[in-house]
Amino acid sequence: MDWFIGDFDDPAYFTIYADKEADAAVEGPALAGLLDLPPGSRVLDLPCGWGRLHPHLRARGHEVFGGDLSPLNLRRHRVEHPAPLVRMDFRALPFRSASADGVFCAFTSWGYFASDEENLRQLLEFARVLRRGGVLLLDLAGRDTLCATVSGGKGHWLDFPEEGYQERATWDRTRRRIRTERRCQGQRFRHDIWIPSDEEVRGCLSAAGFRSVTACGGLDGRPWEPMAERWIYRAVRR
Ligand SMILES: C[S@@+](CC[C@H](N)C(=O)[O-])C[C@H]1O[C@@H](n2cnc3c(N)ncnc32)[C@H](O)[C@@H]1O
Repeated sequence: MDWFIGDFDDPAYFTIYADKEADAAVEGPALAGLLDLPPGSRVLDLPCGWGRLHPHLRARGHEVFGGDLSPLNLRRHRVEHPAPLVRMDFRALPFRSASADGVFCAFTSWGYFASDEENLRQLLEFARVLRRGGVLLLDLAGRDTLCATVSGGKGHWLDFPEEGYQERATWDRTRRRIRTERRCQGQRFRHDIWIPSDEEVRGCLSAAGFRSVTACGGLDGRPWEPMAERWIYRAVRR
């Protein structure tokens, strides 16, 4: 089974990422601002997760639709942030072509698939559902910092006793993927994410039909630089 089907769809995910709920108070307004669409825009929050960023898109006056693969996340979203939601896979979005003004893809939610074709397919689907001139916001982890901080080889386990889990991250130089193993509530989880270079991100965006690609290196919109922790791309549908 693909790792992303099970790993996000487990109550332990909410334990491991509990701090992201508080982070949303800063990330939400900032990322919604960087999307930079006028009020009334139809925005697809893909993937929406449990909806932690939803109120901040709504606060900008957007009409927001959420989609995610995880039934557990969607259930929590429905309870905490009622909204139009759909269960979906990035590779075949259940939205009409050219139906959206914006796609909001936050928190390193690209690169999950094993093949380059599938990862490109996700961007092609984002482009398909956007109207001409529509905007994609793609919020990624900065690859160069990640490479520098995450060890190659076997890595070592870090303990997060207050949060209740252990974590070991390793960087696979050949496959250019970060593998993050976690032990939580007696279970093991393993994320395996392709972390592209800036050139690869731009190449894929162009191949998927985007133009006018700009990037910044942080939530405050600071200029992009290789060692920025976040690489946040804004791209316009051709
Ligand atoms: C890191 S979370 C980000 C969620 C949200 N954007 C946020 O910032 O809270 C990644 C999300 O992607 C979803 N996901 C993973 N694989 C997916 C796929 N193939 N299609 C659609 N959603 C997927 C997971 O269920 C999870 O909710």
